[in-house]
Amino acid sequence: MTQQRNSTGLGGVAAGDGLEGKIALVSAASQGLGYATALRLTAGGAHVAMFSRSVTRIAQAADRIAEATGQRPLALTGDIRIADDVRRVVAETAEAYGGLDIIVHNAGGPPAGSFEALRDEDWQQAHERNFLSAVRLVREALPHLKQGGGSIVNVVSISVKQPLGGLILSNAYRAAIVGLAKSLADELAPYGIRVNNAAPGRIATERIKELDAHQAKTQDRPLEEIERGSLQAIPLGRYGEPAEFAEAIAFLASDRASYITGATLQVDGGMVRAIQ
Ligand SMILES: NC(=O)c1ccc[n+]([C@@H]2O[C@H](COP(=O)([O-])OP(=O)(O)OC[C@H]3O[C@@H](n4cnc5c(N)ncnc54)[C@H](OP(=O)(O)O)[C@@H]3O)[C@@H](O)[C@H]2O)c1
Repeated sequence: MTQQRNSTGLGGVAAGDGLEGKIALVSAASQGLGYATALRLTAGGAHVAMFSRSVTRIAQAADRIAEATGQRPLALTGDIRIADDVRRVVAETAEAYGGLDIIVHNAGGPPAGSFEALRDEDWQQAHERNFLSAVRLVREALPHLKQGGGSIVNVVSISVKQPLGGLILSNAYRAAIVGLAKSLADELAPYGIRVNNAAPGRIATERIKELDAHQAKTQDRPLEEIERGSLQAIPLGRYGEPAEFAEAIAFLASDRASYITGATLQVDGGMVRAIQ
């Protein structure tokens, strides 16, 4: 049945989509893909905790979700790069809701740049923000997930299928996350824990606006021309909506995906042409 999108961008979401009563933690969730995910999981009946670095932005994001769904997620402040923060937000979520079933690992995107433009410091920061953060989040969540099985979903990028020009940090670290997820899918399956990735192509968020603006500046071309070029590479002819991406995460996180683990689901309007 075709779902109609409503003004909240939630489509015809109703109870019964395998998320009811689940306890979920979503990182980097004050805007963009993380926010859309927290909104979708809440609308699906999950008890959601969400965090980002800014106390104001995350509180406002939780307020918007409360307005849209009638349920206010737990809004926590934390920096995904800091081990103590990760430990604390996991503990606070488990304590507030009495456990943990779903982890959505998301983080701020690494800066654009070519190999020759980047220093050790840039690589180390990307490692902490986009890779080690996932290791730490899973490690902290594991004792809770082991209680009754669970689901881990990582936000990666279509760069895991096809490297993106000028985004070498993303190309390297997203692939590392997929390697980690494949290994974890194996190691954690005996506990009933599934591990998957969702790979956005070009979903209309602030991050994509910034990347388009960066490209326009470095190539000295008008922004409209950059955007036109991006659209031409997408068979569906448009950028995706955050709610469309969140739908993929909600599916992978839910019991509807009970036999799916170790998979990477592209949400890219057909942008990647690779067969596998
Ligand atoms: N949008 C796309 O099409 C696309 C495509 C490929 C990959 N991605 C990747 O998907 C991820 C999300 O993208 P997006 O488009 O939603 O980005 P975005 O609009 O820039 O949002 C980033 C979010 O991350 C939070 N954040 C940033 N650094 C953080 C940190 N150290 N600790 C905790 N939270 C942090 C920000 O909140 P605060 O500022 O409040 O901390 C914000 O809520 C990024 O890694 C991006 O590279 C996106």
